Amino acid sequence: MAGGEVRTSPELPLKLRLSLAIFSAVSNVSLRRNGTVNRRLMSLVDFKSSTNKKPIKGVTTSDTTVDSSRNIWFRAYRPREASSGENLPVIVYFHGGGFALLGANSKPYNDLCLRLSRKLPAIVVSVNYRLSPDHRYPSQYDDGFDALKFLDDNPPANADLTRCFIAGDSAGGNLAHHVTARAGEFEFRNLKILGLIPIQPFFGGEERTESETQLARAPVLSMKLTDWYWRAFLPEGSDRDHAAANVFGPKSSGISGVKFPKSLVFIGGFDPLKEWQKRYCEGLKRSGNEVKVVEYGNGIHGFYVFPELPESGLMVEEVREFMKERTGFGDQ
Ligand SMILES: *[C@@H]1O[C@H](CO)[C@@H](O)[C@H](O)[C@H]1NC(C)=O
Ligand SMILES: *[C@@H]1O[C@H](CO)[C@@H](O)[C@H](O)[C@H]1NC(C)=O
Repeated sequence: MAGGEVRTSPELPLKLRLSLAIFSAVSNVSLRRNGTVNRRLMSLVDFKSSTNKKPIKGVTTSDTTVDSSRNIWFRAYRPREASSGENLPVIVYFHGGGFALLGANSKPYNDLCLRLSRKLPAIVVSVNYRLSPDHRYPSQYDDGFDALKFLDDNPPANADLTRCFIAGDSAGGNLAHHVTARAGEFEFRNLKILGLIPIQPFFGGEERTESETQLARAPVLSMKLTDWYWRAFLPEGSDRDHAAANVFGPKSSGISGVKFPKSLVFIGGFDPLKEWQKRYCEGLKRSGNEVKVVEYGNGIHGFYVFPELPESGLMVEEVREFMKERTGFGDQ
């Protein structure tokens, strides 16, 4: 490697490297230049998992329709503890995919939510929302918020909605933030949000940050790709300083005055988005909110869906500690 050149990726296991390369190549071709998605091609690498009534490592799953006309539904994960009658905290989870790809039944997310449900333990509710470019901003936020309202009226068995956390990764982390901000101005009957957990959230702006430039060709998420996602998601004619992307930027009114819970934000050292994520954390603090920032130096974008990476397990531990601190559950 030439002196001064920036590494764009840590050492990764070969198998993981291969699956990333295949996924990246297929999604690159599927996201067309004219802004549409070749869904048929994409489905070749987006493996889906069905629900399991028979427990897998103690966890059972089931799907519930929220609104069939918009194809909003969620997959609920019930760990062993819930089956034996214990009431558990709830994590409402929003999957990533640049607002344009994947679903709540995509295998990596099914596996991640199953792992979270079992290890925390918690009832995880993973929300399926509409995708861009067919549905642009604010469809995804509407869907996410409507799923919360539905949950409030229809709590899953053994779900203690007074101990609710909103989480999501990448575009789902962006969604988690905006849904939480909306929830702060709404009175739920039962549901109480005790924490927000954005995992490598997808934020951006017109400016090019140092990490975006240096890690422009990082695995999973290149700058060309993030530009494509924003173009497909934001309203036609708007730029990346739109408040949905640049939440504390020049065109945003921020969240001052909004009731907002404590946040636990995960950042990866090899994620081109890390500068935007740090600014996000600063913005939360400036607005008077508590934030715990966890940065993994070797974290690539999407590390959490690979249980073979040590950071993936560390993240689950952090989430467990955060939930414990916020709820006192686990104290006997
Ligand atoms: C985009 O390109 C695809 C494939 O070439 C084509 O089928 C589709 O109609 C185009 N859509 C628009 C909106 O231009
Ligand atoms: C796909 O790869 C080509 C060549 O590197 C690049 O020009 C294009 O912007 C990529 N598309 C997306 C959506 O990242």
